[in-house]
Amino acid sequence: MSLREEVEPLKQVALADLKAAPDLAALEHTKGAYIGTNGKFTALMKQLGALPKDERPAAGKLINQAKAELETALAARRNELEVNAALPKEPIDFTLPGRRRSLGKLHPLSQVTDDIVRAFRKVGFVVADGPEIEDDYHCFDSLNTPADHPARDSQDTFYLANFTNDVGQACRPFGAAGASPLLLRTHTSSVQIRVMEKQPPPIRIIAPGRVYRRDNADATHNPTFQQIEGLYVDKDVTVGDLKGTVEFVFKEVLGADVKIRFRPHYFSYTEPSFEIDFSSALVKKMGKDWLEIAGCGMVHPQVFENVGYDPEVWTGWAFGFGIERIAMIRYGINDIRLFYENDLRFLKQF
Ligand code: DAH
Repeated sequence: MSLREEVEPLKQVALADLKAAPDLAALEHTKGAYIGTNGKFTALMKQLGALPKDERPAAGKLINQAKAELETALAARRNELEVNAALPKEPIDFTLPGRRRSLGKLHPLSQVTDDIVRAFRKVGFVVADGPEIEDDYHCFDSLNTPADHPARDSQDTFYLANFTNDVGQACRPFGAAGASPLLLRTHTSSVQIRVMEKQPPPIRIIAPGRVYRRDNADATHNPTFQQIEGLYVDKDVTVGDLKGTVEFVFKEVLGADVKIRFRPHYFSYTEPSFEIDFSSALVKKMGKDWLEIAGCGMVHPQVFENVGYDPEVWTGWAFGFGIERIAMIRYGINDIRLFYENDLRFLKQF
């Protein structure tokens, strides 16, 4: 038999072998036997040299065509075997009901935050953001609260070493000369300064976010909690604007029967300053007439100076309140720690 006559029968055997390979390992073995380095087709190639010169091209072409066919058959069988290997070994009953995935929902604190943000958006406020890891300039000094100010004691917090915050400030050790150490912000009021440093007035922002204090956890305290800060800067802004806006938002969030009361207070970054008390059927249920809920006031001229606004031209108000407090009133929750325990029996109720 001539070399050319050998090709066709050998190809038929090889194709049959490839098709019959029971698994991927056997398939690789079969491949080797025909088109591997020591395979039968490779051997045929090597015999080409023994043919008369004018017969070589036709014979070579025939062998190459056969090899190409084998490659195609190999790929097809490999695919088939791979699909088979991926199929389940046990039969499946496709009529069985599917597995139900229970829908998640927002944490009650997120729900309350969203509602407050929505209410402020209705009157033209936008959400602003600032770093939780702050320097003490933005958290205290720029808000007219210098290092020896007593308000710093009540907002004692956690100081950080070896850290870079999300606005790229590296931490310097507490007490180092000229250093403004990094700390976990004690209130969202620092966002007021961050925003005013970046843009000229007018400003109408709210800044929800996490804040930290060195408090021991009990029914009404937690070292981490949430606040919402508000800042409004424009010409001829009055306490009346502040009262009207706050009243509108609390009515939106907590119901139309809400009453608001402003009580004089002291904050170093506002003058005059007030605490906002709040009364409603829910507060009465808690056995109280009024519940203190927020701090606020007219932005102190020194704060405007600190950010380069002219206090003779610009006026504004600011407020800050705790979101947990509002959620507790709204849902009748009597222990703040429930918000952080992630107990599904609690969370599923909202
Ligand atoms: N930062 C204050 C706190 O954490 C709340 C506060 C009071 C915010 C008065 C203000 C303000 O913007 O004007 O207790």
